Amino acid sequence: MTRAPEAPAEGPRLRLRRPRPEERDLLFDWYNDPEVVAPFDRFELSTREEFEADLDAALRDPRALGPRYVIERRSDAAPLGMVGHYRAHPVLTLTDIWYVLAATEARRKGYGTEAVELLVDHLFRSEDLPRIGASTDVDNTGSFRLLERLGFRREGELREALFHHGRYHTVYLYGVTRSEWELRDRGPTRMSPGSPPSDP
Ligand SMILES: CC(C)(COP(=O)(O)OP(=O)(O)OC[C@H]1O[C@@H](n2cnc3c(N)ncnc32)[C@H](O)[C@@H]1OP(=O)(O)O)[C@@H](O)C(=O)NCCC(=O)NCCS
Repeated sequence: MTRAPEAPAEGPRLRLRRPRPEERDLLFDWYNDPEVVAPFDRFELSTREEFEADLDAALRDPRALGPRYVIERRSDAAPLGMVGHYRAHPVLTLTDIWYVLAATEARRKGYGTEAVELLVDHLFRSEDLPRIGASTDVDNTGSFRLLERLGFRREGELREALFHHGRYHTVYLYGVTRSEWELRDRGPTRMSPGSPPSDP
């Protein structure tokens, strides 16, 4: 088992780093707030014990769904959200990602895109993965626009696969291969050598 460094990824405005013990209350609040994490997703209230077990599992189990990194704004060290990844299939080589900009006032400013770019960069650098995927409710425009902006391709859809808010919803499947990621045109979120972090 390899342990990732505390802050494995840094971009122009954000860094991804491991959750700290003193912010477990904050993460627990996010985790249990359906408006924050699951406007378009399955949601179940977690007990503190379940949440702690999910956090711990995310340090050692590739299949674990729990949060792996906190999204931190570099200019003021504010925690803005969290991201995760998990092995999504027992046979196929599928690693899927998820992402939440929990600070709702920070949404629609490009932070989500930068955080996911950092996560995908980190995963391709640190693991021998041929592809990275994500699934998103067909109504979650912010989520799939973010993926498309980063070069993920819509590969299909699963009809009525995700139960939330009282009914089954169709989801889009997205993916990006390692070669597509390496060859893609990197947008302005990319940090060039020597460029200073910009303001929030
Ligand atoms: C999805 C989420 C991470 C997007 O984060 P964000 O920081 O607001 O996204 P960005 O500012 O980087 O925007 C990315 C793209 O989505 C678009 N977008 C963002 N929110 C949108 C919304 N509510 N409606 C329509 N488009 C939206 C942006 O305009 C941008 O598209 P563009 O490149 O065409 O301009 C954030 O809304 C969130 O945390 N949602 C709740 C959790 C969730 O649904 N996570 C995804 C499921 S895994």
